[in-house]
Amino acid sequence: MVSKAIIPVAGLGTRLGPITRAVPKAMLPLLDSRDRLRPVVHFICAEAAAAGIDQVALVVSLLHQQVLRSYFDAAREAGDANLPGQIEFIVQAKPNGLGDAVACGAQFVGRREEGFCMLLGDHIYTAQPDRPTCAGQVVAAFDDRRPAAMIGMQTVGPEELARVGTAGGKPVGDNIYRCTSLVEKPSIATARAKLRTPGLGEDKFLAHCGIYIFTPEIFDCLAELSARVSPAGQELPMTEAQQILLRRHPEDYYLLRIAGAAYDTGNTAGYAAAQAAIRPNQPA
Ligand code: UTP
Repeated sequence: MVSKAIIPVAGLGTRLGPITRAVPKAMLPLLDSRDRLRPVVHFICAEAAAAGIDQVALVVSLLHQQVLRSYFDAAREAGDANLPGQIEFIVQAKPNGLGDAVACGAQFVGRREEGFCMLLGDHIYTAQPDRPTCAGQVVAAFDDRRPAAMIGMQTVGPEELARVGTAGGKPVGDNIYRCTSLVEKPSIATARAKLRTPGLGEDKFLAHCGIYIFTPEIFDCLAELSARVSPAGQELPMTEAQQILLRRHPEDYYLLRIAGAAYDTGNTAGYAAAQAAIRPNQPA
């Protein structure tokens, strides 16, 4: 059972500046399907809750902690029922990268969990009709196999490679792949040479969609990486910790292609696409 999720929202959000100097990226609002304004982080917490996850830790900057606390207090007062039972806040002292943000959640997860979820704090999802939510699909696939990792993926073309963490896989089931390699933001030449996945079509590749499930061993991988990345203040890249986990468990690291779509609200095109997807066919 996956019952805990870490949601890192402590990044600077520079790509959406200047508004993110004043408003946390996670607090940027979207209209939901019932015309209520809810911030991006609310949709992500609701995605976790719908996947059966009842305990969430938001990794926040010191500057934004109070704003986020105030929002969730108000959402509970307003009677929003689609949130996880427990939402706590962990401060990341400096925006030292996604890997560092995830490492901040080690104590929250503990060593005894079979698996925990990590949801990027700027991605939201729509599932295909009649399918469970996207996070729910990854949780179910993890529960089936209990691997070292089950990572949600989507298919991307060459034009998106420069922005995404990409993986190669060997098909082992319905939209499930054993991961064979992981490369952050590959060139098209690297992707063609190292990241081909049978059955996806010409120049189509598997890219992370923002939903990750790991065993707590990922924290050992982050600690190993942190010992190597010595100069203080240097970012801790999540992909490198994942590569360590993959080297430790080459037979037990899986990718699930989600039946649905992921939207990266961290850039303006993705933000607009997310809004259109959540509230389709509405007059402006
Ligand atoms: P991104 O790299 O997409 O977000 O991190 P960012 O750093 O806010 O974006 P830009 O490049 O400055 O525009 C993915 C997720 O990880 C979180 C972010 O908040 C986002 O939800 N993150 C990133 C942290 O919590 N801490 C970090 O140090 C870095």
